[in-house]
Formats: sequence, C-alpha cells, structure tokens
Amino acid sequence: MFRRAAQFSRRDAVLLMVGATAMHLVSSFLPGHPTADSSIIINTHLKHVHDTPDTEPLPGPPQVPIADALRVQTVTTTATTTVTLSPDSHVALQTGTDDLPFTSIVDHAPGWTLFRNLYMSDGTLYILSDNRSFPEIRLMTSTGMAAENNPENIAAREPTSHDMDYITPAEARRRWGGTKHNRVSTIQGNTLLVWEPSQFLRHYYHLVAELFFGAQAFWHGAWSAPSEALSNSAKLNHPAPPPLDRVIFAHSNADGWRDDPGFNRFFMRAAFPSITVEVEEDWQDRVVATSNSKGVDRAFHFPYVLLTDRSAAHRGVICGSETQRIAAEAWDYMRKQHKLMGIQAGAWWEPVRSSILNFAGLEVDRNDMTSLTVPKKVVITYVSRQGVSRRKLTDASHESLVKALTELCERKGWELIVMQAEKLTKDAQLEVASKTTVMLGVHGNGLSHLLWMPPTKVSAVIEIFYPGGFAHDYHWTSRALGMSHYGVWNNKYFTYPNEPKVDYPQGFQENNIPVDGKTVAQLVEDRIAGKV
Ligand SMILES: *[C@@H]1O[C@H](CO)[C@@H](O)[C@H](O)[C@H]1NC(C)=O
Repeated sequence: MFRRAAQFSRRDAVLLMVGATAMHLVSSFLPGHPTADSSIIINTHLKHVHDTPDTEPLPGPPQVPIADALRVQTVTTTATTTVTLSPDSHVALQTGTDDLPFTSIVDHAPGWTLFRNLYMSDGTLYILSDNRSFPEIRLMTSTGMAAENNPENIAAREPTSHDMDYITPAEARRRWGGTKHNRVSTIQGNTLLVWEPSQFLRHYYHLVAELFFGAQAFWHGAWSAPSEALSNSAKLNHPAPPPLDRVIFAHSNADGWRDDPGFNRFFMRAAFPSITVEVEEDWQDRVVATSNSKGVDRAFHFPYVLLTDRSAAHRGVICGSETQRIAAEAWDYMRKQHKLMGIQAGAWWEPVRSSILNFAGLEVDRNDMTSLTVPKKVVITYVSRQGVSRRKLTDASHESLVKALTELCERKGWELIVMQAEKLTKDAQLEVASKTTVMLGVHGNGLSHLLWMPPTKVSAVIEIFYPGGFAHDYHWTSRALGMSHYGVWNNKYFTYPNEPKVDYPQGFQENNIPVDGKTVAQLVEDRIAGKV
C-alpha cells in the first residue's frame, strides 16, 4: 500500500487493484544475460605514435618522501636542538617541474576517458608525456559544440589542438616551471568533466539515464577488480568506489543541465549530495586564470578526471552504429573486462538507486541476493501519456489497455498503477517506480523511471511504438540493468534478439498510436509466469 496515499489522485492517476488470488509462478526462469551474444570486440582505440623525447626526460620523483628527506637533512645538519630548515633547502625540493607527474590513462572507451594527471591551460587539456601512446584524441574529446547531422557540423566537432594536446616534460618545464616553484595548481579530488553542451543535458533521460548512467558504470568499473563470477552475478553489494568530488559542465551554464520538470537537479543533489557543481562560467574562470596574457603561463592539474564527450562517444562503434547511447560505450567496455559487478541485477547502479530512493523517504530492499527472486507483490505500472500533448494512444486503445490490465490484475491479485507522471510529485513517482515489477507505456521520457525499479527475476519494460517504429533509449537502458524489454506494435510484440531496426515512421510522434490491450496483458501475464 502507499504510505502517502494522499499524494496520489485516485480519480485519474492511480488504480489500486488488490485481489486475493495467489500468484502462481513458474520459477527457475532467469532473464538472459543482457549480452550473452558474442558481440564483436573492436579494440582499435589506441593509436601508437612513438615520439622520441626532444630532451632527456625529467628526473623521477624523489627517492624518499619529502618529509623523510627533510628529516634526514635536519638530523645531518646539526646536533643542536634548535635548528630549523633554511628556506632555501625547503624550496630546493620543490623546484622546477619535478613534481609534475606524467599523464596516464586508467581506462578508456570512446567518449569516456579516466586520466591520472591531466593538465589544463588556457582552455586546452594537456597530456604531459614524452610519448604519444594514448587513445586517438577524437575518441576522447571534441570541440564541445552542439551536434547536427550535417557534414559541416560533423567536421566542426572534430577536436583541434586547442581542445586537447600533448606537452612534453621539457615544454611543460619551459611554460609552467620556475626557478623557485612551478605555476601549476592542483584541483584536488576526483572530477567528472562533461564536455558536451546543454543540447541533451536539459533532458531527464539524457542527463540521468545516459550521462550519469554511463559515468556510474565507468567509475564503478574503473575501481573494481575484474571478476567473472562477481560480474555475472546478481549480488547487490560491492565495495563503493571513491567519491566523485565535483562535476564540471564545461560547455553548459547553470540552466543548461536542468530540465523543466526539475528531475535533474533533484537527481544531482539526491544521488550525489556532496558533489560540487561547476558550470561554464566557472570553467571560463579557470581558462582565463591560466591564459597567458602577460607572459606568465600556468596550468591546473587534475589528479583524477573522468572526461566524457558525447561526440567522441558517437565516434565509437557501439554508440555510433549499434545503440546511439553514449552510456553503452562505458557500460560495454567495463562489461567486457568483467568489472561491472552484479550485472544481472544492475548492482553497479544500485548505489545511485538507493541514494535516490532513500532521499525520497523510501525503504530500499538491499538484501545481498545471490540470485534474483520473484517479488512477493507484483506491481504493474502503466505510464500513461494521455494527458500530455503528443505521442498518445488512441482513446479506444488506451481504454482497451486499462481494461485488459485491470482484468488481469484483479484475476491475479496484482497491483495496477496507471500513472500520469505529470500529475504526481517527484517523491510519488519514485515511490511507484521503486516497487514496479513491469513498467509499460508509449515510448517517452516517463519510462526513464525504469532506473528506479527493483531488480527481480521477472522485471521488465514493455514499450509501445507506433507500428514500424523503434528506438534504443529505454530498450538499451532496461537491458543494461539486466531487465527484459519488449516492444509492442499494436497486437504484436518483439524482444531481444529479434528486434527491428531503429525507425521513426510517420505517426511515431502523433496521437493515434494503436495498441491491442489484450496483447499487452497477455504479454505481462506470460512474463510474470516466466514463459517469455
Ligand atoms: C607513455 O608515457 C606514459 C606517461 O605519460 C606512460 O604511462 C606510458 O607507459 C608510456 N607508454 C609507452 C608505450 O612508452
């Protein structure tokens, strides 16, 4: 039952159907591993261009930690008790660029690159190295422009040496070094650097279900030890990665990452309560601060930075030609390395889900499941778009769907929720999602709430398209969480691996989408019974 029933309008939003029949479930059915197919592994991202260093490399770090070096010096300088270090001996240890560590890559997939020791000066990201054995720069970044599908725009998004460049230790020493100390300031902690503009960030789906979904997969994976057994399990609890301390939206202002319904800002503060958000203006401050106006050149240093770029992700095969989902590059890279823990239950996403639901005041069942179970209480949620302006079912189809689902849920003793998200508070929407076993509805943003569904043995998303239409948004995301996805064309349905090609036929966005309610209800029944 709803603990805050007052938040739901029973009249038009929620149908509670509580029957008495026990569920009979054919068990021993597990949703297939989302990517049990033999996907093509393409690993051509590393371009090896071996440069000979133009000067001898920098001396390595001091053999003893600075504190120890100082202590040794103190002891050897004098035997009296009052001696302190002279300023010169202290400075000597920090002179030049001795403490500018080389850049290295922790992990990389197209559009997702975790660097150790990346530098930024005057708006350019610098790889400090005496070789060029790094991923192709166009697979890491772009000019950060909005994307349009025309040749001029595609060319204009190719990164230049202003976006990212190499810097040799000698050049770094020349530009940023000094006789007393270098002019490089460290931005402490872990940074998520978002290079895409506000074009897509202003949508709940794209910010949460793509950008942060991918970032979580990549960040979680980067700090996980590879394990075939743990990654293929449904075990929910895994050691948490270190926190992300800040997110920088380098090409979006404060308004540019917030969606109109307000879910993005809720998500940011609920899922990452301690994260610092910097936007374009803040980034520009850093750019201007390091621009060489009076012959003084300087830089910022990121100890750990996860750089994400939408255009670069689309240059990868998985995003560019298979899924159109930037998160898919991050997810698939970590999956192949067996670093996405508990993939069958979306366990790598669980910390984010738990934070959101706890913040909404909801109980989160975090049993350390070793195998998924069928829920005690089956909840079917129909996300209705009949109250919004476009992409709606015909009235007759909507009625047939509600009627068929009502009959099914009465017969089975399941709960049916018909949710018009725009009429509910955020907490109420999250409450519905957090207990939904099967979520269904017409293709649309409301289905993004699938992110908060509990992992169970029969969890599924059923997406209604105008016949002939198909898109990967909710399809890929459901499957990435270990759930099944079914597409419905009126009185037919399809599922992995027999899916159509992406298509937006005439009628896709319009308000006369047909659906046969009985077909959907039968599919729901078969799904819970483990027959499909
Ligand atoms: C290139 O330099 C980086 C440090 O910047 C180092 O981590 C990496 O091992 C080097 N690669 C090769 C092939 O020398």
